[in-house]
Amino acid sequence: MTPNESNSKPALQARTDNKTSLQLREPDDWHLHLRDGAMLQAVAPYSAAQVGRALVMPNLQPPVVSVAMAEAYRERILGALKAEQASGFNPCMTLYLTDKTSREEIDRAADSPHVLAFKLYPAGATTHSDAGVTNLEALDPVFERMAKKSVVLCVHGEVTAAEVDVFDREARFIEERLIPLRQRHPELRIVFEHATTREAVDYVRESDGAIAATITPQHLLYNRNALFRGGLRPHYYCLPILKREPHRQALVAAAISGSPRFFMGTDSAPHDQSLKEADCGCAGCFSAAFALELYAQVFDEARALPRLEDFVSGFGADFYGLPRASGRVELVRQDHVVPERIRHEGHTLIPLAAGQTLRWKFAGRI
Ligand code: NCD
Ligand code: ZN
Repeated sequence: MTPNESNSKPALQARTDNKTSLQLREPDDWHLHLRDGAMLQAVAPYSAAQVGRALVMPNLQPPVVSVAMAEAYRERILGALKAEQASGFNPCMTLYLTDKTSREEIDRAADSPHVLAFKLYPAGATTHSDAGVTNLEALDPVFERMAKKSVVLCVHGEVTAAEVDVFDREARFIEERLIPLRQRHPELRIVFEHATTREAVDYVRESDGAIAATITPQHLLYNRNALFRGGLRPHYYCLPILKREPHRQALVAAAISGSPRFFMGTDSAPHDQSLKEADCGCAGCFSAAFALELYAQVFDEARALPRLEDFVSGFGADFYGLPRASGRVELVRQDHVVPERIRHEGHTLIPLAAGQTLRWKFAGRI
């Protein structure tokens, strides 16, 4: 597990010692892959158990490019849940931004109660991103409309040119794409998804205007050594890839800082074991089954448990202009080992942190 943070604040530490139960406002996962078909059936119940709302990513095949497709997908998500879970879970939808996205689709998204954002994948950046955007400037009329209608743009912040080192792609994206985009569209509301570097959190914290970032549990818990611990570890491979330890520390500092610009987005991205442990394995960590436990572990190790609630249940809703949830959930202090695998009708998933001991256990809604 991660080393304790040495610079934690004494006041926070005093308040978190000896606690055996943590009661939080019901959380939201602002970056989630639920897939479709049998995989959707396998994974949706885990998120519905832990979070009240999730922002569902649109990178299906074919991608979810219209409000009509998003509405149909949303029905399939709710249909994958038992009635009592479906009634307590609100899938918020994203549309996949492509070179062909029209201003009319922005208007339809703005009018939809279920679609909250468009997702920008630079073409070739990650799983199922072939339909992604090849030329940001060409989409300026679309960004203008998004800004005008207050529709959020969620950004996968990596450049994709083959010659750029995979560890530098995020920082290069900020310099070469994001800063110019925000200069052209200062009113555009942006979420920098799965921030993985010091450069990203510094940029998000210090910029003017409506910008925030999600941070995943894997980027808070692990540095890039996790990919090579005793051998090649495909279940720690995701995009953007894990970075060096100073970046992990910068992410933890941002997450526990109390800044409303940083909030939970697991990027739980399930792939069957056979597709992860392969010659050309898929990127993505499956974290939804223990999402809150993983974040609680990070905040506890950083002696910052009092800051967990805003991060998982407050700041995201605020950014999206939605009311914070009214329900509550409980975590109890209880060591438990993350299972080595989760099986579901022909699919085997290896959860993030498989075999590792976590200190907090999700105890349900209260
Ligand atoms: C995601 C997936 O598998 O859909 N993979 C990942 O490593 N994060 C795609 C993404 O969000 O980049
Ligand atoms: Zn993702």
